[in-house]
Amino acid sequence: MKVAPSIIAADFTIIKEEIKRVEDAGADLLHLDIMDGVFVPNLTFGPMIVDAINRMTDLTLDTHLMIIKPENYIERFIDAGADWISFHIEATRAPELCIKQIKSHKKKVGLAISPPTPFQNIYKYLEKIDFVLIMTVNPGFYGQKLIPDVLTRIEQLKDFINKKKLSCLIEVDGGININNVQKLDRAGADIVVAGAGVFKSSDYKSAIKGLKCLKD
Ligand code: DX5
Ligand code: ZN
Repeated sequence: MKVAPSIIAADFTIIKEEIKRVEDAGADLLHLDIMDGVFVPNLTFGPMIVDAINRMTDLTLDTHLMIIKPENYIERFIDAGADWISFHIEATRAPELCIKQIKSHKKKVGLAISPPTPFQNIYKYLEKIDFVLIMTVNPGFYGQKLIPDVLTRIEQLKDFINKKKLSCLIEVDGGININNVQKLDRAGADIVVAGAGVFKSSDYKSAIKGLKCLKD
């Protein structure tokens, strides 16, 4: 299991130190939650901060766009240093264009899907993308509780991917911690995002180790 700590739950007064800490603690990716206050009822930050973060770390920047019409902003996030970019299927009428934009810069493209949205809406794009970001909470805020029903959704998508022999990975995001990560691992997740699960823990190293599902 790969682990992507989400800086949304970090202490921004010492953000450089926070990033260094998760880097030293074994994070595989750094998850950046971009919220526009329209697609989700919360606001975070834009390309200017992504650019600053890019200059603070060599970690791969896993940029989760929770913004409407992502096609209007994707290029700016790529210029700022985003490496993996996921956008929400619910937020655009031009998913093909978004995929094309991201791929033309040789970045990893992910399609994010919220808990109420059926997978039928994304099946046809799976062979063109690198990963699906399955939301395990309703997007908008960190520190929420994982919705238990999502476990069967992960199994369902994993089955589909295996049957069709696709190479697309499954990233899961929201309410994940060392106590529930095994279930997600068994259901078929490849990458876990954790905000509070890492940054609100007292020991980032053991939190990340636990999230990787490593046995001692
Ligand atoms: C939710 C975000 C998540 C979330 C992660 O909208 O996409 O990345 O903030 O934080 P936790 O792990 O605390 O739910
Ligand atoms: Zn996220």
